[in-house]
Amino acid sequence: MNFLVTGGAGFIGSAVCRHLCANPAYRVTNLDKLTYAGNLASLRPIENVHNYRFAQADICDERAVLDILRRDDIDIVMNLAAESHVDRSIDGPGAFIETNIVGTYKMLNAALEYWRGLPDDRKARFRFHHVSTDEVFGDLPFDGGMFVEETPYAPSSPYSASKAASDHLVRAWHETYGLPVVLSNCSNNYGPYHFPEKLIPLVILNALDERPLPVYGAGANVRDWLFVEDHARALELVATKGHPGESYNVGGNSERTNLAVVETICDLLDTRRPRAGGRRYRELISFVTDRPGHDRRYAIDASKISRELGWTPKENFDSGLARTVDWFLDNKWWWGPIREQRYAGERLGEARKVGA
Ligand code: NAD
Ligand code: TYD
Repeated sequence: MNFLVTGGAGFIGSAVCRHLCANPAYRVTNLDKLTYAGNLASLRPIENVHNYRFAQADICDERAVLDILRRDDIDIVMNLAAESHVDRSIDGPGAFIETNIVGTYKMLNAALEYWRGLPDDRKARFRFHHVSTDEVFGDLPFDGGMFVEETPYAPSSPYSASKAASDHLVRAWHETYGLPVVLSNCSNNYGPYHFPEKLIPLVILNALDERPLPVYGAGANVRDWLFVEDHARALELVATKGHPGESYNVGGNSERTNLAVVETICDLLDTRRPRAGGRRYRELISFVTDRPGHDRRYAIDASKISRELGWTPKENFDSGLARTVDWFLDNKWWWGPIREQRYAGERLGEARKVGA
């Protein structure tokens, strides 16, 4: 089985590539543009294995995508390439429209042309798997409710709106042209190789640098956290066993307020890398201006993927977060150059001043 993973140099895509390459029956092509978020160092564990290859390309380049689909006899496309950070989408939505919407459209066009030329048996097993987010559903009240696959789309940020648009395009290519697509909508991921613009790695690295730990608003917003390797296993199942035209919600059943997440990281670091003078990392917590349009709460009902594809997460939040903190403590070779050369941890997405 031959996979094309787009965005495979990113956080989740690299976990998917590492996971798939462990199966000798699979061959994996990673197509990535290598934006600020792409990092070939995340592929170091598999860079020399026989069933992995890398191609630098833009998903907006339909011709390049089509050439790679044909060259590598692709059976399954897993489309993860995206601009993924909500705060950056507030500062500059253009790249999100380009990659997430136009790029998905170009991927669909290339996949459709390729699929139409396949012999019947390969046509039947081809899948276009679009990897999306629970943020397309908007947000939930603090006191109840969960996202199910039928929850209406109501995105709030330029990021989630662009992902919602791409999901609609993927469904349209199935309904209109018959392209065999599957979709998955996942909650917040965390784990090794996480780019340190997102809450969990940012807090770990700021704490190690003795810098303030920025908590938006009162830290009361709730996210449902999933360990990235559990997501990678779910994605393999959706791509290989999912029913064409269906979507699957994926979540960790681990709801936490942001403040609770930050405090837990502080407590883990207190035991693993104690600060000088007996001070506690919690003293570094700093409440800062809230994110504009900040979604209150996300929570995923993952019963469909559990029932139909037999997936459940292996990691709970406490064990997954401890593994993540330990990984960052042990792998400065990976994050040191990012903090020095790409993103040093400054505040993003504070607000586009209305009328400015
Ligand atoms: P990421 O930002 O870490 O990685 C994105 C990757 O896509 C990078 O390697 C980047 O170089 C590449 N890329 C960007 N634009 C490209 C283009 N035009 N052509 C080719 N490659 C391009 O993102 P992530 O957190 O790994 O997320 C991957 C996917 O999963 C995204 O589609 C995201 O919407 C979705 N998702 C993320 C989360 C999460 O918590 N991170 C949760 C649910 C869904
Ligand atoms: P983030 O990791 O950016 O993921 P998402 O916005 O996709 O959920 O943020 C997770 C939560 O943490 C979100 O509610 C915003 C909040 N947050 C902070 O409080 N401080 C920060 O510095 C960042 C980056 C996020």
